[in-house]
Amino acid sequence: MTETVVTVGLDDRSYPIRISSGLLSEIGEDLQKKNIGTRYGVISDDNVAALYGDQFMRSLATAGIQAELIIFPQGEKNKNMQTVADLASELAKRGFDRSDALIALGGGVTGDITGFLASIYMRGIPFVQVPTTLLAQVDSSVGGKTGVDIPEGKNLVGIFYQPKAVYIDIDVLKTLPIDELRGGLAEVIKYGVIHDADFFTFLKEHCEAVFALKQDVITRLIARCCEIKAWVVEQDEREGGLRRILNFGHTIGHAVEAASNFQLIHGKAVAVGMCAVAQLAVKTGCLSEEDAQAIQDLIAQYDLPTSIPAELDRKVIKKYLLNDKKTVAGRVFYVLPEAVGKVLITDQVSEEHVDAVLSGTDTTV
Ligand SMILES: NC(=O)c1ccc[n+]([C@@H]2O[C@H](COP(=O)([O-])OP(=O)(O)OC[C@H]3O[C@@H](n4cnc5c(N)ncnc54)[C@H](O)[C@@H]3O)[C@@H](O)[C@H]2O)c1
Ligand SMILES: [Zn+2]
Repeated sequence: MTETVVTVGLDDRSYPIRISSGLLSEIGEDLQKKNIGTRYGVISDDNVAALYGDQFMRSLATAGIQAELIIFPQGEKNKNMQTVADLASELAKRGFDRSDALIALGGGVTGDITGFLASIYMRGIPFVQVPTTLLAQVDSSVGGKTGVDIPEGKNLVGIFYQPKAVYIDIDVLKTLPIDELRGGLAEVIKYGVIHDADFFTFLKEHCEAVFALKQDVITRLIARCCEIKAWVVEQDEREGGLRRILNFGHTIGHAVEAASNFQLIHGKAVAVGMCAVAQLAVKTGCLSEEDAQAIQDLIAQYDLPTSIPAELDRKVIKKYLLNDKKTVAGRVFYVLPEAVGKVLITDQVSEEHVDAVLSGTDTTV
């Protein structure tokens, strides 16, 4: 199958995102040409290492790449400073130095940890991303946000640090649990709403092929998301303005996720957040009811929730909304759709409308 390449254009820090089936076994050869590091530390969680570790390490060895697999326990609860410290010690014990590089083989947790570790180990060594969840392939592996959680909040410690390359092998999605796939699809729908009405229609028309992981459809889907993310990051690498559109559905989504005590997975919380904010846009007068309905219908078509679970305390959601780390001086910024494919960022939303949207358990517009 032919390969698709998307470029993230950031001057001397530009990098390619290669997308194709079977790519895992070709990475060694490419690294050999690129000469990013003398030796590579492959960082992976225990799940992904069990699934792909051997195959990946063998293919690197065949290409003549020196690499060592270093494993940490999977899960968001391990995306913390302790894991970074443990991995740094492991690198040091194994003699990794400034001429070496890291490879993140895994989902968003692995990518965020590895990027952060690469940015501080020996004051910075290069790294590449090999994302293995749909969320990581369409979102977290691109754009250079790295970091970890602390007890006071998620992603509160981190840095912008771009990878040297991103390798997306679509075959690895075959082993991904269906809920993780669905969670990633919420982010995919997000790209359609914020920037591309044609892509939104594409998703509507290819739902079955997406769930069947049909190669050409999945490749096109991932490539389009990466193109949009690259376009945003190229203009606003450090989230001074435009990059905030990527938070569509996330302001309310994060609050719902936190209020559920993280029982609702991120993608589902974002799905709920996108429906809620579409409703808010209708109430605020910037979105038509038809478009809000179209957004909600697509989310439902992908088997994602469209309303805030009834059992969640609205007061608690509100508290998290006001404490969001992206809230500036008490002002909550919302990314409101104006139409499918177009959004605006505003803090001019009445509290009454927010309360009305939160209090509804049914987001039918
Ligand atoms: N840096 C960014 O810009 C950015 C953007 C969005 C999200 N994130 C971060 O990403 C994280 C979430 O990422 P995630 O959803 O990929 O989580 P994750 O890395 O924890 O992966 C989810 C689960 O899937 C397993 N897994 C991964 N690939 C697999 C495969 N191919 N087959 C079977 N199982 C597989 C993992 O072991 C894990 O148990 C969060 O920490 C979030 O903050 C970062
Ligand atoms: Zn997200």
